[in-house]
Amino acid sequence: MNIILIGFMGAGKTTIGRLLAEKLHTEQHDFDKIIVEQIGMSIADYFASYGSESFRKIETKVLEQSLTLDGIISTGGGIVMKKENQHFLQGHPNVIYLKADLDELVHRVVLDKRNVRPLASSKSIDEIREVYLPRISLYEKSANLVIDTTTKKPEDIVQEILDKVEVFQ
Ligand code: S3P
Repeated sequence: MNIILIGFMGAGKTTIGRLLAEKLHTEQHDFDKIIVEQIGMSIADYFASYGSESFRKIETKVLEQSLTLDGIISTGGGIVMKKENQHFLQGHPNVIYLKADLDELVHRVVLDKRNVRPLASSKSIDEIREVYLPRISLYEKSANLVIDTTTKKPEDIVQEILDKVEVFQ
């Protein structure tokens, strides 16, 4: 059994995934981390050398392989970009969309000084908005549960998920 977290960059997929896994005494599987281990370089370097299409293919493979994983899965923000991934997510019973207002997402991404996101680092708010807007409906369509995280603390978001997701009760 696993729970999949989706949402835009800065939505909290990694942080909430870690806290949720701790609370449930289970594993967290972070797609970006798994991919970095497989490709042997940073995602930014991979995008620069091989392009986003190639990255998306790896991401789809990792998603397909995740069927056998137990625990909490933190996806990358672009997981909803491919049709086959959308179908996979729509057929999965436990997909949670961590949603937040764009201003808040940008604020969180800017605060994250790791500079690891090729689609956000050194981009203007307008450019990030262009990436974000077409994705909103894809996140919504792909999830069974939507949690607005805009003004909430991570611990409260985790509690809300525990309260709302039947599989934990
Ligand atoms: C991406 C989001 C990133 C990472 C890659 C592409 C995206 O993950 O997978 O940089 O297209 O939104 P996070 O959402 O964990 O930052």
